[in-house]
Amino acid sequence: MKKDGEKERQVRPLQKMFTAVPPSYDLINRLITFRFDERWRKKAAAVMLADEPGQVLDLCTGSGDLAMHLHKRAAPGTVISALDYSGPMLEVARKKAIKRNAQRINFLLGDAANMPFENHCFDVIGIAFAFRNLTFRNPDKNLFLDEIFRILKPGGKFVVVETSQPSNPFLKNLFHFYMRRITVPLGGMLSGQRHAYHYLAHSAIHFYSPAELIDMMKHAGFDLVLHRPYFGGISAIWAFRKPG
Ligand SMILES: C[S@@+](CC[C@H](N)C(=O)[O-])C[C@H]1O[C@@H](n2cnc3c(N)ncnc32)[C@H](O)[C@@H]1O
Repeated sequence: MKKDGEKERQVRPLQKMFTAVPPSYDLINRLITFRFDERWRKKAAAVMLADEPGQVLDLCTGSGDLAMHLHKRAAPGTVISALDYSGPMLEVARKKAIKRNAQRINFLLGDAANMPFENHCFDVIGIAFAFRNLTFRNPDKNLFLDEIFRILKPGGKFVVVETSQPSNPFLKNLFHFYMRRITVPLGGMLSGQRHAYHYLAHSAIHFYSPAELIDMMKHAGFDLVLHRPYFGGISAIWAFRKPG
């Protein structure tokens, strides 16, 4: 029976998938990106911490890699929270935090559409390789964007590191070929969850162009402050500000 005050948590279509992949998730990330995923998260953490924020959130933390970079670089007084709706993912993140002596990170189980935070409480929110999950053909996209807007302080920053679309057609085709022909079979074989890597490839191939993503965020009320593509746009970092 539900306890008083306990919020109803809706099971979302992708939630099952993120409950099944955790054991091999990090290994496959490193393999399919030649370890560049970690470099990109590190750069995103640097952008997040540039103005010495007091309260930061790693949204959809998964196995906690962005949170670990934040913990390593943040000033001692910075409060780091990390939220995800997959219990098994958070379990991997918590174990990693203990192993790396990163006990300062506050891990929380929760849905990005209904987060357990007060209005205007974060100076910075970052999201690594999960913005696609929240926005790609997701009927709840606006719920997620409104919720991020709600919990950011006026003037606060939202930093996204995500796969993107190369502007060069040759590079774009090569990237899409790699996602279809290498990522799906390799990820599928190592995780035993081919559908999860099929979803990854499909969503990355059909994801927004940088201009479309920026436009969507402007409609949600955010101002663009930074866009840095990597490898010709295979991945990118965007930083947005909530008007102050
Ligand atoms: C591709 S993983 C990215 C994980 C991590 N940020 C990283 O850098 O590897 C996507 C994560 O987003 C989480 N996620 C997706 N939708 C969510 C939602 N609505 N609320 C909370 N977490 C969500 C999943 O459980 C998963 O851990």
